[in-house]
Amino acid sequence: MKTAQEFYVANLRTKEGQAAYAYLLDRGVSKDSINSFGLGLALPEWDRLARYMEAKRFGKPLLLEAGLIRRAKTGDKYYDNFRNRITFPIHDSFPRVLGFAARTYVPGDEGAKYVNSPTTPIYEKGRQLYGFHLARPHIKSGGVAFVVEGYLDAITLHAGGVKAAVAAMGTALTQTQVNSLKGTAKEVQLVFDADQAGIEASKRALPLLYNADLDGRVISLPAGHDPDSFVREYGSQAFYDLADKAPDLADYFIARLLDTNAKTMTGQGRIVSEMKEVLRQVPDAVKGQFLRNKLADRLGLSPELLTLREAEKFKRPPAAANKPKPADDYDRAAGELLVFMMVHRECLSLVDDWLISVWPEDRTKIVLKGVAKALKDNPDNPDVRPQGLGLDGDDHQMSALVSRAALSNRTYPADQTMAKAKAMIVKLRDRGKKKKDEEFTKAIKLAEAMGDEETVEKLLAAKRGQIDPAIPVGPR
Ligand code: UTP
Ligand code: MN
Repeated sequence: MKTAQEFYVANLRTKEGQAAYAYLLDRGVSKDSINSFGLGLALPEWDRLARYMEAKRFGKPLLLEAGLIRRAKTGDKYYDNFRNRITFPIHDSFPRVLGFAARTYVPGDEGAKYVNSPTTPIYEKGRQLYGFHLARPHIKSGGVAFVVEGYLDAITLHAGGVKAAVAAMGTALTQTQVNSLKGTAKEVQLVFDADQAGIEASKRALPLLYNADLDGRVISLPAGHDPDSFVREYGSQAFYDLADKAPDLADYFIARLLDTNAKTMTGQGRIVSEMKEVLRQVPDAVKGQFLRNKLADRLGLSPELLTLREAEKFKRPPAAANKPKPADDYDRAAGELLVFMMVHRECLSLVDDWLISVWPEDRTKIVLKGVAKALKDNPDNPDVRPQGLGLDGDDHQMSALVSRAALSNRTYPADQTMAKAKAMIVKLRDRGKKKKDEEFTKAIKLAEAMGDEETVEKLLAAKRGQIDPAIPVGPR
C-alpha cells in the first residue's frame, strides 16, 4: 500500500497530473493539504499501477488481496481498481496506508463519484476515521473532535484551520469509529448538513457516544451548506462560533422528536417509543436515567413513564419467535438441488466434490450429506426421510424440502444434467454465502451498537475465517 501510495503521489506531480492538481486547488484544497493528506492520482490506463507494482515484484495475488487491482468478470484479465481519479489514502493512526478512496475529477466522467477500496485483510469500511492521524494531536489539545461525512469536508476544514476534523466516510458512524476517539476526545461534535435528516443521524449516534463515555453536540450548518462550502465561504472563526453554540446531542435529538411529532397523545406516544429505542441501546443505568430525565422534562411527564421493563431490554421483537420462518433463498436453492440429486444420480460425485467436502457444517450440509449417502447406500430404494437425517426436530422448513425431494420425479435431458447441477451448486453456494454474510453483519452491528468490542473482533475474525464457498474448488 505504501508503494502504491508513492506512485499515486508522484503521478499528481507529473504533467499528466496537472489537471487533477488544478482541480484540487480550485476546490480550495491547499498545497499543504494535498501534501499532508497524501493526495495522489491514479492514471487513466487500465493497468498502469499493476505494471508499476509488478516491476517492484508485487505479484497479482497480493495486488488483488490488497484491493488495488480487480479481475475482469470474464477471462483472465486484470485491471487497476482506481483509474483516472484523484486518490485519497486512508490511514490508521500510525499512520499506515490501509486503503484508498478515489474521486472523479474529469468533467463529464461517468460512474460513481468515489471508488473505494473493498474489504481487505487490513481495511474494512466503518473501522477508520478519515484524517484521524492528522487530527489526533488537535483533538487531544482541544478535547473536541469534529466529525463530518466526506473526505473533502475533512480536508477543507483542515485547510481552513479546523484541524480537529475527521470524516466518517459517507457511512453512518460506527461504534468502532467512536471508540477510537475515546482516549483522545472528551466531546464529539457531529457536523450535519442543513438538509440532513438530523433525527436519524442523532438517534444513531447517541448510544454510540454514550457507550463510549463521550459527550456529544450537534453543529447544524445553514441551508445549502456542507462543512466544505461553509468554511470556504465564512472561514474557520464562523465555524468555531457555530461550534460554541452547538446544542447537546440529546437535547438536539429530543428537539427534533418534538418538531416532527406534535404534542398530541399519539405524538407523545411516538416520541416515547423512539426514546425507548435509544434507551435499549444504552445499558448504563445512570446515562439512561439522564436521558429519561431530559425527555420527561421536555414533555412534562414523569420519568417513570419512560422506564423500560427489565425484560424488554435487548429482547428481539416478539413476532419472529412463534411464526414458522418462510423459506429463504438459501433453503430454496437447497431444495432445488435435493430434487435434482434424487432424479439425476450421475451428479452425486459433483455434489460431493464441489459442495460437501468444502461446506461448513450447517443444516444444509447435514441434509445434503445424508441424502447423498442414502442414495449411494441403496440406489434402488433409498431411505430419504427427514427423520433419519439428524435434523433439528423443529426444523419443519428443511424437513418439508426433504420430503418434497423424496417424491420428486422432475427430469432434465441427459446431456444437460452436469451443467445444470453445476449451476445449482454455484447458486446454492452464493446464496449460502450471502446468508452467512448477512448473519455476520447483523451480529456485528448489534455488538457494535452495544459497544461490545471483544465480540465484534471475534465475529470479524470468524467472518474472515469462514470458507469462501463462492470459489469453486473444482472436481477432483
Ligand atoms: P459527498 O458526495 O458529500 O462527497 O459524499 P464529498 O467528499 O464531500 O465530495 P464533493 O464535495 O462532492 O466533491 C460524502 C462521502 O460519502 C462517501 C465518501 O466518503 C464521501 O466523502 N461517498 C460518496 C462514497 O463513498 N462514494 C460515492 O460515490 C459518494
Ligand atoms: Mn462535499
